[in-house]
Amino acid sequence: MSNVRRIFVIGAGTMGHGIAEVAALRGLNVTLYDVKQEFLDGAMSKIKWSLDRLAEKGTIKSSSEVIQRIATTLDLESGASDADFVIEAAPERMEIKRDIFSRLDRSARPEAVLATNTSSLPITEVSESVSAPRRGRVIGMHFFNPPVIMQLVEVVKGKYTSDETVKATYELAGALGKQPVLVRVDVPGFIVNRVMARFLNTACLMAERGLHRMEEIDAAVRYGLGMPMGAFELSDYIGIDVLDDIIKAMIARGFSMTPCGLYSGMRSAGKLGVKSGQGFYAHPGSKFRKPE
Ligand code: 3HC
Repeated sequence: MSNVRRIFVIGAGTMGHGIAEVAALRGLNVTLYDVKQEFLDGAMSKIKWSLDRLAEKGTIKSSSEVIQRIATTLDLESGASDADFVIEAAPERMEIKRDIFSRLDRSARPEAVLATNTSSLPITEVSESVSAPRRGRVIGMHFFNPPVIMQLVEVVKGKYTSDETVKATYELAGALGKQPVLVRVDVPGFIVNRVMARFLNTACLMAERGLHRMEEIDAAVRYGLGMPMGAFELSDYIGIDVLDDIIKAMIARGFSMTPCGLYSGMRSAGKLGVKSGQGFYAHPGSKFRKPE
């Protein structure tokens, strides 16, 4: 049974707004933070879009009942001050995470758990931006997109993470209706992204080298491996920029892989996948493309 009553989610992007939605759906009070009002407004529209889907199916009575549990703020310090549990879902850059965690060190309650939803950066490196007595409260809590549907949460133990923090994170994951899996070793990409990055990158290299067309690879993955999306469909869904960041962060920390050259070219051209309307495929009116 989790003691968490108020969650503070930092970052209203793809993962942050989804995590806020999941927490509100489970009856928790949430404060969602970002640096610009337009990001918060966009996040609230996306949450409403998703909740409306659930209301149409009768999973919830109405979206407004859930939405009222989500407050938004542009003030990180005040949002952190009354939270029992903080989940940071800011962009995947170490300097951004370190800045946020050092601010949390000054503003969050001493007993609050400080979790990062990082998909590839080491928890130990993030935790070294808080003062030594706090480091035991820093942990990885990695959700999957879309958080409202995907069951898994990777709970990542850094060098300093205490057993009490692992227990609190497991309890919260359970309260959110998720299946936690403990990542014992703080390696780049943890478990899923380590497997997934190689799989998606291999598919991309096959297409780049002209061995197969991406449609053929995707059909093989869907119908041969039974996955819900093909490799290129999934890459577009995750976001080419996110995937590129994950692969680069893993390689920078010693993971051996030849990165597919298509990712950086697509990124520079703004072909980011579903969110930009064009990735490996065109997504003009994709059912997965939520409102801006
Ligand atoms: N909110 C509410 N409902 C949603 C939703 C959302 N955000 N997204 C999808 N749905 C609903 C749809 O409305 C639909 O409902 P229905 O069955 O009642 O019509 C249902 O989910 C299934 O959706 P669709 O039929 O439209 O499409 P799919 O059957 O393909 O399911 C999917 C969609 C769940 C996204 C599925 O394609 C899937 O599981 N894809 C793989 C996702 C995945 O692997 N995610 C992990 C990525 S890795 C990651 O996140 C790590 C990070 O670090 C990068």
